[in-house]
Amino acid sequence: MTERVEKLISREKIEKRVKELAKQLDSDYAGKEIYMLCVLKGGVNFMVDLSREMESMVYINFMKVSSYDKKTISSGSIKILMDLDESIADKDVLIVEDIVDSGRTLNHLKNLLLSRNPKSIKICTFLDKPARREVPIQVDYVGFVIPDGFVIGYGLDYDQKYRNLDYVGILSFEE
Ligand code: IMP
Ligand code: MG
Repeated sequence: MTERVEKLISREKIEKRVKELAKQLDSDYAGKEIYMLCVLKGGVNFMVDLSREMESMVYINFMKVSSYDKKTISSGSIKILMDLDESIADKDVLIVEDIVDSGRTLNHLKNLLLSRNPKSIKICTFLDKPARREVPIQVDYVGFVIPDGFVIGYGLDYDQKYRNLDYVGILSFEE
């Protein structure tokens, strides 16, 4: 099977949209410090570029959660592979994620973080695939809404590959 990548969102479009989002965040969080919580590994490229465009006081931190399988779906929880190393109590937390698909990961993560008493918590995702949603979740900031299909690049992987692409592509397989 050969992997084929078809460009979906160009580097130029990504740069423009990231700048717009950074402006929006600066304005919405005016006078506040933003605690950006990046979900590893997919959210890294987006968080780095986004935070670099922002003028607000930004803190960054990371969490790693397991991608769920059928078993974790039925047990209704995600596994925290790497937790935060400090308290988020009283902080304005912005979760930065690569993509919202079923919504399960962010739904669980947000509920977990809410139990730690942040001042506020919002979600900023680079991509949103609403056609695949299984759990209703409020996504506060979205880079691009995309149709159903498996995408890679700009942080997103297939089998840990393609994360370094500076554009987003749709992956397909050929004999
Ligand atoms: P959710 O819990 O179904 O919303 O899944 C979210 C996670 O699945 C994302 O953070 C990604 O790591 C992964 N994922 C979902 N769709 C894609 C895709 O099209 N390409 C790469 N990873 C994806
Ligand atoms: Mg992810």
